[in-house]
Amino acid sequence: MKKAHLKIGLMGFGNIGVGSYQVLEMNRKQILAETGLDFEIVKILEKNADRPRPVQVPREIFTQDPDDIFCDPEIDIVIELLGGIHPAADLMLSAMNHGKHVVTANKAAVAAAYDELRKAAEDNHVLFRYEASVAGGIPILSALTESLQANEWTEVLGILNGTTNYILTQMTDFNLEYADVLKTAQEKGFAEADPTADVEGIDAANKLSILISLIFGHRVPPEEIPMEGITRITKGDIAEATESGNKIKLIATARKTVDGRLEYSVKPTLIPFDHPLAGVSNEFNAVFVQGNAVGELMFYGKGAGPLPTGSAVMGDVISIGKLIAKNAAYDNKVPGGRR
Ligand code: HSE
Repeated sequence: MKKAHLKIGLMGFGNIGVGSYQVLEMNRKQILAETGLDFEIVKILEKNADRPRPVQVPREIFTQDPDDIFCDPEIDIVIELLGGIHPAADLMLSAMNHGKHVVTANKAAVAAAYDELRKAAEDNHVLFRYEASVAGGIPILSALTESLQANEWTEVLGILNGTTNYILTQMTDFNLEYADVLKTAQEKGFAEADPTADVEGIDAANKLSILISLIFGHRVPPEEIPMEGITRITKGDIAEATESGNKIKLIATARKTVDGRLEYSVKPTLIPFDHPLAGVSNEFNAVFVQGNAVGELMFYGKGAGPLPTGSAVMGDVISIGKLIAKNAAYDNKVPGGRR
């Protein structure tokens, strides 16, 4: 092993930042025993160091200056969990320009700046990983680009947003109207105070844009994906769907037509009761894909939440750490350093 102690700079210490920190805290010893690598978060970029959090963090590792992370030669990997496009995308580019490998869960920034981020990784010979940005804890991006890479894909169908799936499930199971469920979902922490990005389909479109790039090799910016949210669904629509043997799900889909065109959308869709996606309830996510060798596959699990998302973040960090240790962290031949 080239290096046994890998230092990390974390940008953003909200729910997902704390979750990623907790995953490392819970499993650091086991990760060390299994990989020989000791990962340590040595700096955290965060405005509010004093906010109560469920973890004890040494006060001195907080900073408000990103250069404290970028210019620290000891830091190998930068994790970006600030959320939003700005300044997150610029900070990731800056981190790569300073020679840092970057891991993020930020689907809005990845979808908006996909080409620039991948190019910066290539130009700077660093790795850029974003497993947690699509479907949280479900390892869909690694599965598609590694274990399943021998396939050509004809279709992807995803329940990629936990908030809307929770709302639609509650409306269906308890015969409730959208506004009532939204209110309860906000009270229980299943929906944001401003739920626009979720309920209008924007969040799912960001994730679909990333999936399309990886599966079909086409860049479709999220704003070009036809999108319809769930705000106009009534309990009458759901009763009608149920009568005809269907559930209404917010489905993000992309498929290749027989003449080779790509069709994509995010919209409420009727899913027959006997389709595997119909059984995906509440805040759970699922991705259903069809490959020309493997056939139909469905991935199911928690698409949000601090620990599931932290699991995917730290998975990316560890896989980069293993490559650093083998002195093989970058392969010029592979766009974006993914390998
Ligand atoms: N707001 C998102 C959701 C969080 O509800 O799925 C995870 O991306």
